[in-house]
Amino acid sequence: MKSIEVITGDHNIIELGTEHISQLRALESTCFEYHWTEEQFRLGLERKAFYVLGCEEEGMLVGYLAYSIILEEMEVLNLGVHPDFRRRGIGKALMLKLLRKCREMEIKRGLLDVKETNHPAIALYESLGFRKVGIRKNYYPDTREDAHLYDLEI
Ligand SMILES: CC(C)(COP(=O)(O)OP(=O)(O)OC[C@H]1O[C@@H](n2cnc3c(N)ncnc32)[C@H](O)[C@@H]1OP(=O)(O)O)[C@@H](O)C(=O)NCCC(=O)NCCS
Repeated sequence: MKSIEVITGDHNIIELGTEHISQLRALESTCFEYHWTEEQFRLGLERKAFYVLGCEEEGMLVGYLAYSIILEEMEVLNLGVHPDFRRRGIGKALMLKLLRKCREMEIKRGLLDVKETNHPAIALYESLGFRKVGIRKNYYPDTREDAHLYDLEI
């Protein structure tokens, strides 16, 4: 798949394909304790089970956003920014790019879940208008934390 480059603010946001998997996995390991396997990334991208936007700075992948689209609903699956590049608006630029794409595709609703203690991510999602609609108890296998479920009318 060819990268489609789009400039969002000062950030270079591109659509990632299977050719980016090794960079994606390296970035993911700086952001999260659990990791998707190479096979999960490859099959998901090939079968369009999910899509991934990336942000490049200085020729390096420094942020990514994985999402799925089912009928008129979008779900954020993962959002990560390299620790050295946080608080520069990259997470927000990725989310704004996704929301713009959703509007173009007439997707009506956005969903996501987030750990209750993940204050940076919660602040980001709430700043974009997501509102809390529920809680799933002990949802995350690694920490047994509750998931807070968020919803956005796009
Ligand atoms: C959550 C995450 C993606 C945010 O990425 P980021 O590029 O640093 O976020 P941005 O710079 O775009 O921040 C946008 C807004 O989010 C909020 N925010 C982001 N990080 C924050 C923090 N550490 N504390 C408080 N608010 C924060 C702020 O409102 C910020 O706006 P401001 O900088 O004007 O105050 C990043 O911290 C990360 O990768 N965390 C580890 C992985 C993770 O938890 N992902 C979310 C899974 S649901």
